[in-house]
Parts: sequence; structure tokens; C-alpha cells
Amino acid sequence: MFGACRALILAVVALLASGPAMAEDGYDLWLRYRPLADSAQARYRPLATAIAAPQDDPSIRIAAAELHRGLTGLLRADVPASADAIAPGAILLGTGGDRRIAALGLPLSTLGREGYLIRSVRVDGKPATVIAANSGVGVLYGAFHLLRLVQTGDPIDRIDIRSVPKVELRLLNHWDNLDRSVERGYAGQSIWDWWKLPDITNPRYVDYARANASIGINGTVLNNVNAKADSLTAPYIAKAAKLADIFRPYGIRVYLSARWSAPIEISGLKTADPLDPAVAAWWKAKADEIYAAIPDFGGFLVKANSEGQPGPQDYHRSHADGANMLAAAVKPHGGIVMWRAFVYAHENPDDRARQAYDEFKPLDGRFADNVIVQVKNGAIDFQPREPFHPLFGAMPKTPLMMEFQITKEYLGFATHLVYLGALFEETLASDTFAKGKGSTVARVIDGSLEGHARTGMAGVANIGVDRNWTGSQFDQANWYAFGRLAWDPEASARRIAADWAGMTFSTDPAFVAPVVDMMMRSREAVVDYMTPLGLHHLMATGHHYGPGPWVDDLERPDWNPVYYHRADAQGIGFDRTKTGSNAVAQYAPPVARQLGDIRTVPERDLLWFHHVRWDHRMASGRILWDELVTRYDRGVAEVAAMRARWATLAPYVDADRHADVMRFLAVQAREAQWWRDASIAYFATFARRPLPAGSPPPAHDLDYYKALRFPYAPGN
Ligand code: GCU
Repeated sequence: MFGACRALILAVVALLASGPAMAEDGYDLWLRYRPLADSAQARYRPLATAIAAPQDDPSIRIAAAELHRGLTGLLRADVPASADAIAPGAILLGTGGDRRIAALGLPLSTLGREGYLIRSVRVDGKPATVIAANSGVGVLYGAFHLLRLVQTGDPIDRIDIRSVPKVELRLLNHWDNLDRSVERGYAGQSIWDWWKLPDITNPRYVDYARANASIGINGTVLNNVNAKADSLTAPYIAKAAKLADIFRPYGIRVYLSARWSAPIEISGLKTADPLDPAVAAWWKAKADEIYAAIPDFGGFLVKANSEGQPGPQDYHRSHADGANMLAAAVKPHGGIVMWRAFVYAHENPDDRARQAYDEFKPLDGRFADNVIVQVKNGAIDFQPREPFHPLFGAMPKTPLMMEFQITKEYLGFATHLVYLGALFEETLASDTFAKGKGSTVARVIDGSLEGHARTGMAGVANIGVDRNWTGSQFDQANWYAFGRLAWDPEASARRIAADWAGMTFSTDPAFVAPVVDMMMRSREAVVDYMTPLGLHHLMATGHHYGPGPWVDDLERPDWNPVYYHRADAQGIGFDRTKTGSNAVAQYAPPVARQLGDIRTVPERDLLWFHHVRWDHRMASGRILWDELVTRYDRGVAEVAAMRARWATLAPYVDADRHADVMRFLAVQAREAQWWRDASIAYFATFARRPLPAGSPPPAHDLDYYKALRFPYAPGN
């Protein structure tokens, strides 16, 4: 009997360990900890025999538990965690306050609160690996780093790693509503079950915190920037406090989006004028109330006077007046205010791309020292490609934080495979020339360009209740890449993709190389089949999913795609040079010169800055019309290539996730074709030229595409 039972257990273990064949649904993200190949297990085992960790710090306890879980899974060996004596091959965790760590004389003083060292050392004459930091959270980050090395097959003998985050605030922005809908969310409902909180919590909250800690994210804004005042009432503060308690040992602070008119809506004040003492007193009392429940509350994120939201301008006060009043309320508690620069006004006839700069640049130097201005990566709105926002480099006296969108509002939702690491990297590597060559956006963001200590990067989260968290397997990579780039904005998107693919699927180079290649090309593919050559904002109304370049009847001119592409019988594109809106002049002179000259502007940004004749000769020798169609075709072809490539990779991936990705790619292929066909059918009515040789006509006529409706698209 016993023998049979044992045989059964062994069979189950063998089954569990059998790698690719095992069913997976993506819930485990990049923290799967499935057994490594036998040879790798043998290599690592002597280097990871036990975990020695003090028990008094909750973050270090979590680090030890994670290492235990990870190494036990990866090495198929019990790697016990205890505070006891060091065995050869032990992993020793701790801070400088620990006697054993102090005895090693490590240079901890330059690590800050969150940095860490991982080193091969000798403790009591025995070989060991130490993970040391100035805080438990630093140790936790180091533990995840060591696990990543083992997961991806990197050597850990003779290891000497020092890692310090270059950016202070590494935040997710959840656009989650209190009814659990998620604005621009494509992964199901919000993971915050506001109704059941604070009494009932979901184990997912812990897994959320683990996943974020593993990539260095240290803050989360829980609610939508289009905020409800209710989030600031006592019951919701108690709910947020419960989440804060869960996240705290993972190094994650909680923030809230604040609705400007909350004093009126919650307490019946007559005004929300920031210079009214009663309003300032209300916010001060509110901040005190929040900090009583959440002592390490991070602060407020504010969308004000933007897309109909209330704000200080309703009282003829500036953004700085508003931000500073709130900043004064949280200042005694060490809190901050993240004030968004995503503003454009309906009444303003100016090019929308100019408006945030025009409004914020004059306020440079007028913000309190606990305010940071949050700027989207580009001047319009998270398009498949945007040139970097001209505010970067233009407000030297004000810390600016980056806002990227991880959820793919304009890039095919969670359905299309688009690796955003490439987009993030492109923006961060852009040179603002604000202080001469090398003044990259990354250096604006990490504070090194102007010597700002307050730095930040926010990503609009793509997380929901779907089992795979992000609505598709490959969208996990975008969450992952965001975290890694927030830690180090100069990191390589390609390298990050390789780490992710290795941890998420397989480390076999025959798998990683083609997948990374596919991921890196996927961003250019979506640009090609949606908005090639600098076109932008061509999506249909409301849902922002499919093409709608013909839309011209919306209430605000700058909500209409025709406002952006300006196609006519002569050509296409938005003239933002001096003969047009002159938005180009908002960039530093060398950038303005390059972008403003049709001979030097990179082709990828051509139609963003110039209105160009259909017969303009492109670098390829083709005329613009032919080039445009060729780009659309190239995008469609790239998706076909992705499909074909993924099909060949079945041997490396469990059948379920492989088939899942295959189905998503089939949808993407169909929809890339739709974007291409609808766009070409429409632009052809202006260009009035034949398609280049070999380019097939659209499958349907223009009216067919115009008639398509999607009233129930998610996230809208
Ligand atoms: C986009 C998006 C909105 C969002 C806004 C913002 O316009 O479509 O849903 O509220 O950005 O960033 O505030």
C-alpha cells in the first residue's frame, strides 16, 4: 500500500517537473520557478544549500521565503531557510545592522535605502553568497535579482553585483474605478475588490505585491485619475489602508488620485479655490485623516483641468497654486503630489500638441519642493509612436516624472502582441539637447541632468482579474519591462525581453533568440499597420480600437482624426513647423532644427511635423503615397511572420500557453489587415493614385469600414 502511494507521489512529482508539457495559464508570471534542466540544477545546488536570514524584519522574512520557494522549485531540492549557522553554499541575507553582515565590511553606505549588493564571500571560512542592503526591502530586491540569475541560467559563483535604483518613485497608476471597471483596462475587472475590502482580502493582493517587488515597483496609485471624491471618504480610506498593510513589507506604498472638487462634494464647501483658507484647511485635515490610517501614505496624483475634470483654473488659479496647496497638506507627513501635465483645452484653438508646454513651461520653478509634474511620454496621448514630449528638458527647475501607458489603449488592447519595452526605450534614449548632446529623456527622469533628487516614473497599469493578469501572455512583458526600466531608465529593452522570455517560457537559446527578435520588432509592426511615418490619432471614436481616420464630427476639433492627419489633394501630415503650428519650436534648437526641416526629420516622425506632398520622394526612392502603402503592407507582413515564427516554437512552451498566444496572433493578423485596408481605402480618396505594384486592394470599400461599430469594447 505504502509502496503504491509512494510510487504515485513520485509519478506526480515527475509530472510536475516535466517542464513544457505541463499546463500553465500564466498566473505565475515570470516567477514560475519550474525545475531547471538537470545540468543547471547540478551547477547551482552547491551554491544554494540553505538560506540564512534574520527573522525580525518582515521584508527579509519574505525574501527568505521567496528564495526558499524559488530555489526549491528551480533546483528540485529543499533549500531550507533559517537564521542559523552558515553551511557551505549558504545564502546570507541581512542589513548592515546584522553582526554577520557587518563583519564582512561591505560598502553599504552608497546603496541608499533600496539598493543592494550580491556577493560571493566567505563566512566563517565557508563559501557563501551574501545579499546585503540598508533595508529589508533592499534585501528583498536583491533576493529577486539572485532568483532571476538562477532562472535565466546566469552564473552565481564569484558574483559581485551592486544595484541601486536610479529613479525614486517607480509607480503603477491604476485607472481603476470603484465599481471595478477599469478605464482603458483590457484584463477584466479591477483586482481591487472595493466592496469586500477591508474585511475580506484576496490572496491575489499578495501575489500582486510579490510580482511588483520582483521588478522594483515601490508604489501604486489605487484609483483612476478621473477620480471619484468617494475614494477620499472614511470607508474608502480604511479599504486603502488594508491594501497598504498588505503591500508594506514588499516595499510598496499606496497613493490615491484626488478629485479636485472633493471638498465641495464630500463636505459641502462652497468652493475648491486653492487660495481659500477653508479649502486648504479641508485638505490638511483630510491628509491628517489619511496618514492616521496609512502612516506611509505616498501622496496624491491629480488630473486637474483636463478633459473636463475640475481644477484650480476653475477659480482662475494656476496649476502651481493648486499643486502647492495640496503639497502643503501632505508635507508634514512626508507626502508628495504628482501633478499631471496632460492638459489641453477645448477653447484653445492652438495645436493640441503645444498646449501642455505652453501652460506648464511658464510655471517652472513655481512648484513646491514636494511636487513632481507627471508628463506623458509624448505630447498627444500614448500613440504607437510619438516624439518625446517637449516638456522634457524644458523645465529645469521642476522635477518631471514620466508617465508611460502599459495598458495598450491605442496599440490593439491586450489582443495584439506589442512589446512596449522598445517604445519605452526609444523615448528614454531620445536626446532633448537641453544641456547639449547627451541630455537624454532618461537623464531628465533620473534627475541627473538638473540635479533633482525627486525622480519618478509611472506606468498606467494593464492589470486586471484575468488569470494571466494582463489580458494576454505577452502583455506581462510590458508590466515587467516597465518595472525594470523604472529601476534603470538606461537598461536595454532587448536584454529585459530576454530575461522575461527566459523566465516566462524557456531559457533555451533556440527559443529566446527568435522570441526576443519578434518582441523587439513587434512595436515597429504596430506602428506600420496603424500609424506609419508619424501619423497619429487615427483611431475610431470612444473605444480607440479600430481605425477611424475619417472621423470628423466630434464635439472638439482635436478629438477628430482629421485634425491630426490633414490629408488633402496635395498631401498629408500636420505642419508643426514655422509655416504651421510651430510646435517644433518647443524643442531645444538642435532638435527643433532637425525635426523642422523636411530634409533632416527622421522619416518615422515625418508626418507628425510636416504636411508632405503625395509625390514627395522618400529615402527609398518611392513617392510618399507608395511608401505609406508599403509601410502598411510591411506591418501586416510582420504579423504574419510573427505567427509563423511562434508556430515553430511549440516544442519550448507548454501546449496551453502556446495555443493561447497562437489564437491572439490570429486575431492580430486579421486586425492588422483591417487597419491597413481601412486606412488605405480612406487615404486613397485624397491621394488618387494607384497602389504600388504588388500591393493588393483593400478587401472592402470604404463605406464598409466606416460602418463598423463596437459599442461594447472593453475599457471605454
Ligand atoms: C486618454 C484616455 C482617457 C484618460 C486620459 C488621461 O485620453 O483615453 O481615458 O482619462 O488619457 O490620461 O487622463
